[in-house]
Amino acid sequence: MRIIRTIAEVRDVVREAKHRGTSVGLVPTMGALHEGHLSLVRRAREQNDLVVVSLFVNPTQFGANEDLGAYPRDEARDACLAEAEGVDILFAPPVDEIYPDGFATTIHVAGVTEVLDGASRGTHHFDGVATVVTKLFGIVRPDVAYFGQKDAQQVLVVRRVVRDLDLDVRIEACPIVREADGLAMSSRNVYLDVAAREQATALNRALDAASARHRAGEREGEQILEAARAVLDDAGIHPDYLELRDAETLAPVARVEGDALLAVAARVGAARLIDNHILRGDA
Ligand code: PAJ
Repeated sequence: MRIIRTIAEVRDVVREAKHRGTSVGLVPTMGALHEGHLSLVRRAREQNDLVVVSLFVNPTQFGANEDLGAYPRDEARDACLAEAEGVDILFAPPVDEIYPDGFATTIHVAGVTEVLDGASRGTHHFDGVATVVTKLFGIVRPDVAYFGQKDAQQVLVVRRVVRDLDLDVRIEACPIVREADGLAMSSRNVYLDVAAREQATALNRALDAASARHRAGEREGEQILEAARAVLDDAGIHPDYLELRDAETLAPVARVEGDALLAVAARVGAARLIDNHILRGDA
């Protein structure tokens, strides 16, 4: 595995590989790798000749009061994990390689960015994501890029960018990887102390309760959400949001007929966590 820090070097390696007809898979990450990230890497490894993992804690997607400074960073550990999964290139640029002096362009997606995390964190968050992901696509020119369903809204934002800007990349969304007790894996779980770690299990238990009510035949959104709310209340969690939305458009859903995204975000101890389930229209 090569660790590369410059755009020019990545371009050289990819150009040479593509010349030989090699398929290129990209897994964008902010590091602090866990099994969630590694599941994307494994999928990329199965499907491509050349696998590139980017490791870049993207400052533009963090708000002023968010955890950019505290975000967990351990490049040596990440490099070991990536190498063990057979990654070919770890692209770990410094901030000024991605955002040099004079950088002035932002990719702003309307619509799907305006609700859920866009409303709760501010639209700057998805502007930062869309901009850095578009840059990574331009730098690496992957055939396929892998994203986790853990960040369901991020997947929709990236898909929108790809469609609207005619980017020649296929987006593959991979299932949420969870701890044994159901907590969705996240780099931010390291912020949880023992009590908060226990409390955090309520997020997926709440989504489970709502999914069970949906599977039992309930179609009224409010009734489904009520099942989740009861579990969160019980655990003393006041969510930033707990909502049912159309799984493709993120339009509000009052009655669940098609596929719906059941999404939650909450501050638990020192972490802000998100999780979601898809309620299948045919379930
Ligand atoms: P990061 O939070 O490091 O996540 C990198 C990728 O791993 C994302 O696609 C995310 O959805 C996926 N992922 C995280 N936890 C997961 C889990 N438990 N199961 C499955 N997939 C999981 O998301 C970002 O970084 C950034 O916004 C990025 C896309 C790199 C742009 O800066």
